[in-house]
Amino acid sequence: MKKKDDKLKKDIRRLLKEKNAVLLSHNYQRDEIQELADLCGDSLGLSIEASKTDADVIVFCGVHFMAESASILSPEKTVILPRMDAGCPMADMITPEKLILEKKKYPDAPVVTYVNSTAEVKALSDICCTSANAVKVVESLTGSSRVFFVPDMNLAHYVGVRVKKEVIPYRGYCPTHNRLLPQEVLEFKDRYPDAVFVCHPECRPEVVKLADHVCSTSGMYKYAGETKAKRIIIGTEMGILYRLRKENPEKEFFLPSKSLICPNMKLTTLEDVLSSLEEMKNVVKVSKEIRESARKALNRMLSVPRD
Ligand code: 13P
Ligand code: SF4
Repeated sequence: MKKKDDKLKKDIRRLLKEKNAVLLSHNYQRDEIQELADLCGDSLGLSIEASKTDADVIVFCGVHFMAESASILSPEKTVILPRMDAGCPMADMITPEKLILEKKKYPDAPVVTYVNSTAEVKALSDICCTSANAVKVVESLTGSSRVFFVPDMNLAHYVGVRVKKEVIPYRGYCPTHNRLLPQEVLEFKDRYPDAVFVCHPECRPEVVKLADHVCSTSGMYKYAGETKAKRIIIGTEMGILYRLRKENPEKEFFLPSKSLICPNMKLTTLEDVLSSLEEMKNVVKVSKEIRESARKALNRMLSVPRD
């Protein structure tokens, strides 16, 4: 297995060089993909990278909406998603038709759209956000006292209790994060009373309430490196454990539930990366009309000052 993987990695590296391509990996990808990638990150970090890389080709190991965002921000580049069937069920919970109908109910509320959404939905939005900047994005909308937040109701709740505006949620959710229950976290807290609990804001509000820290996937690496705690309970998808353990060998990480696995994030294999690069297949492209509107919402997000 190791020998086979080494050969695949070598072939991928050679092709990446030949094609002036960059390999981006989300923090939930399989260990071997993260190990091989030029850059691993959260949705915000990867969007920024996609907007400034000078590579001709971006191979995006993640899910469909992430490759779409890369293509919107870098339309002159070829963006490859090694597995076209790697989607995000939360992104699919809101369609442009549903959004047009819902928007009519709140005509005064700007639409804030989580990047976990299709390009068509982004194109109908005022501004995008990620889990890393959602609070700042909503605060940046100074001209309105309420916003309509789509599609994640859990992230909407997380933002709503931290800002002075009303945050009206759409009722979408991430099936993976939503499965984590407070009882599961409490069991681990009982078992390891010295442990801290850090979770993603896509978790249910009852779970978020139990957390010592709530952040994006990349925020978790920072927190794990900085906390004095030696034991950390993790409330997000299991792919994050690979680098957390590698970067913090003296600390222990626990996943409170066996169901914290996103099947879509796990689809992409080294074989898929190699064959998509060899054949330059699975290219994600967004039509000019959709791209231009979606880009405005993404660029507006990128112009919100970061820490
Ligand atoms: P991050 O932006 O924190 O990486 O999250 C993306 C995602 O899909 C979480 O489920
Ligand atoms: Fe979508 Fe959840 Fe998977 Fe993230 S973890 S890609 S939000 S289904």
